[in-house]
Amino acid sequence: MPPPDRAMPLLLLLLFLGLGPAAAADEQFVFDGFTGANLTMDGMATVTANGLLQLSNATSQLKGHAFFPTPLQFHRAPNSTAMQSFSTAFVIGIIGAYDTLSSHGMAFVVAKSRNFTSALPGQFLGLVGSANNGNATNHLFAVEFDTILNSEFNDMSGNHVGIDVNGLNSVDADNAGYYDDGTGAFRNISLVDRKPMQVWVDFDGQTMQVNVTMAPLQVARPKRPLLSTTVNLSSVIDDTAYVGFSSSSGILFCRHYVLGWSFKMNGAAPALNISSLPSMPVTFPKPRSKTLEIVLPIASALLVFAVAAAVFVYMRRRRMFAELKEEWEVTFGPHRFSYKDLYHATDGFSDERLLGIGGFGRVYRGSLPKSKSAEIAVKKVAHGSRQGMREFVAEVVTIGRLRHRNLVQLLGYCRRKGELLLVYDYMPNGSLDKHLYGDQKEKAALGWGQRFGIIKGVASGLLYLHEDWEQVVVHRDIKASNVLLDADMNGRLGDFGLARLYDHGTDPHTTHVVGTMGYLAPELGHTGKASKASDVFAFGAFMLEVACGRKPVVLDARDNHLVLVDWVLDQWRAGTVTGAVDPRLGGDVVEHEAGLVLRLGLLCSHPLPAARPTTRQVAQYLDGDLKLPELSPTYQSFNMLALMQDQGFDPYVMSYPMTSITAGTMSQMSDLSGGR
Ligand SMILES: *[C@@H]1O[C@H](CO)[C@@H](O)[C@H](O)[C@H]1NC(C)=O
Ligand SMILES: *[C@@H]1O[C@H](CO)[C@@H](O)[C@H](O)[C@H]1NC(C)=O
Ligand SMILES: *[C@@H]1O[C@H](CO)[C@@H](O)[C@H](O)[C@H]1NC(C)=O
Ligand SMILES: *[C@@H]1O[C@H](CO)[C@@H](O)[C@H](O)[C@H]1NC(C)=O
Ligand SMILES: *[C@@H]1O[C@H](CO)[C@@H](O)[C@H](O)[C@H]1NC(C)=O
Ligand SMILES: *[C@@H]1O[C@H](CO)[C@@H](O)[C@H](O)[C@H]1NC(C)=O
Ligand SMILES: *[C@@H]1O[C@H](CO)[C@@H](O)[C@H](O)[C@H]1NC(C)=O
Ligand SMILES: *[C@@H]1O[C@H](CO)[C@@H](O)[C@H](O)[C@H]1NC(C)=O
Ligand SMILES: *[C@@H]1O[C@H](CO)[C@@H](O)[C@H](O)[C@H]1NC(C)=O
Repeated sequence: MPPPDRAMPLLLLLLFLGLGPAAAADEQFVFDGFTGANLTMDGMATVTANGLLQLSNATSQLKGHAFFPTPLQFHRAPNSTAMQSFSTAFVIGIIGAYDTLSSHGMAFVVAKSRNFTSALPGQFLGLVGSANNGNATNHLFAVEFDTILNSEFNDMSGNHVGIDVNGLNSVDADNAGYYDDGTGAFRNISLVDRKPMQVWVDFDGQTMQVNVTMAPLQVARPKRPLLSTTVNLSSVIDDTAYVGFSSSSGILFCRHYVLGWSFKMNGAAPALNISSLPSMPVTFPKPRSKTLEIVLPIASALLVFAVAAAVFVYMRRRRMFAELKEEWEVTFGPHRFSYKDLYHATDGFSDERLLGIGGFGRVYRGSLPKSKSAEIAVKKVAHGSRQGMREFVAEVVTIGRLRHRNLVQLLGYCRRKGELLLVYDYMPNGSLDKHLYGDQKEKAALGWGQRFGIIKGVASGLLYLHEDWEQVVVHRDIKASNVLLDADMNGRLGDFGLARLYDHGTDPHTTHVVGTMGYLAPELGHTGKASKASDVFAFGAFMLEVACGRKPVVLDARDNHLVLVDWVLDQWRAGTVTGAVDPRLGGDVVEHEAGLVLRLGLLCSHPLPAARPTTRQVAQYLDGDLKLPELSPTYQSFNMLALMQDQGFDPYVMSYPMTSITAGTMSQMSDLSGGR
């Protein structure tokens, strides 16, 4: 037991007399830490051993509430419209998986009832449900500390404080921060940077003015409030109401804490004793973001050979074109290109021939001298590990046997020390993303007809990989920059199977997810296993990308991560899904096709793999051979951003720019196992 003078809550119930005949008790309480505090809690809420009120406990999709046990009198007299004034101060802190991103926020609440069973977790903050958001019968007043931008509630940013009346569409909001007393300058506060912050909420029952002020714990109360607005709470807050806190989790690891809390009716909230507040935990599972290590094998025999070779000048030239060739490769002979040929075809891999650079390596344009017409693209892939090379080359050869008008043909390979060269058909119109994200002001280069054709083409290429070939080939990196356009502007999937390269020769105990943020299915975070369903997920993101002309994950002007699926979902919930279509298309859209693509994109983006359509169904929906089912209502509280973050996908990788035309951007899962 901690010493009572340090940790016992100081709970004072003081009766003030003489405030008029009907004046209720001017209740007041102070909790400098919550050890032994009499609070009514539900859901995830609990008081920790060191006296922190922990509202959420790193479990997904749950709520947590904590209330002062007795209701307080908020009106001057029962049934009177006149309000009492109140003032409260509290210290809160949020610890998420990242100190820059968090799963939803928390709120200070004044509510008619403590029964929040019908409220939803996630972006609803455990305050309301989707059916009663904003309903005047809620009798709910809240100050929200919101860490995710939800456009459905007109949120201003992913780090804001808002005054809420009966729902989550704030009557007033601003970015979290404070005005410096000295300079008057606004200083940002990050809600999720794991540091405690103090908040003061003051309401004047006569003028109906609400002030919300906040500051980092070590900063004294700023004079100028962050928010100051007038709201008539007379019909919002009932005669008597409960005061407390609400929080919710999305699917991401997160903890919300209250360190101390004071409240006073008709007077300034007592100051908290900062030095006696419990401290926030400092040990929490920190997501690690391991970079893929490509260990160059130091094969001493080869080194000796290299040294010896250097002695002989005539060997120099041979070394320049040196290849690695092993006995097992004999059977793959016809698929093997000589390095010398590729070297000459690309003018010695000159920069003028460079088509793009990406996670897998550089891509060069080349023409084979033997047949002048044969334009090729040569991808140089750094590959140090010789382990698994045999399987990989076998796969390359297998892949080389795949033939489909919507796949980029792999012609063969060449192998050098630490390097693999893959030879493909050259695609004269480059990658699809170049066409989608050209000059923003320009009229869209690709019309709707072309886009729809490309989507259908890629679907048919994917169907071939998944179902129609002799063995299942999982693509693992479907995205606009991996779809190339041939001379007839047909969409062709490239880079299939290449992601497997990183599977071979790596430690089986470390899970590496290869793919691109925004296209990675949530289950990859759990299983690390790519499947047809995870390809369908990526294809869903791809469809939305092509229809909307927007990347699956973007940063807005305020550095918030915006996830395309969430945005299209918002439009769908609002009943205007086709409003998501790329505005640059102007009127050039076939409404029912666009509706089909967007709704199918959402269906493929379902968080549960089993709920996604099969690749064959996708093709059938697109061909109109099968009627698209309605989206299920479970989509209501679904938030892709939270899902992705929950899987430990690194937010920094999420915004990694995709620079190349054919190369894959590689992102990895970080190990969050300690946090769940
Ligand atoms: C907590 O407060 C409630 C309401 O005032 C009271 O009924 C209950 O006995 C208190 N519990 C404890 C353990 O003090
Ligand atoms: C979190 O709270 C929920 C609801 O009370 C509970 O079921 C779960 O076991 C808790 N998890 C942890 C890790 O404490
Ligand atoms: C307040 O109003 C309710 C119904 O409107 C009534 O039943 C109750 O008696 C009133 N209370 C007082 C103290 O006037
Ligand atoms: C809480 O409200 C729900 C309906 O929203 C109701 O079913 C339940 O009985 C209520 N619980 C209590 C303890 O009043
Ligand atoms: C508000 O809630 C009440 C009670 O639940 C319900 O009867 C009413 O239809 C709701 N109003 C709106 C606009 O949804
Ligand atoms: C709100 O802040 C303003 C400016 O500091 C102040 O004049 C006003 O009295 C405050 N109102 C309340 C209710 O505290
Ligand atoms: C607040 O609204 C009530 C009716 O709900 C009204 O009687 C009262 O005058 C209003 N107060 C102010 C300050 O506007
Ligand atoms: C604040 O808490 C500290 C440590 O518990 C204590 O020594 C100090 O007297 C307290 N100050 C006030 C003003 O209560
Ligand atoms: C504060 O945050 C907002 C929103 O993130 C940003 O626009 C602004 O530049 C930041 N201001 C400072 C001083 O950092």
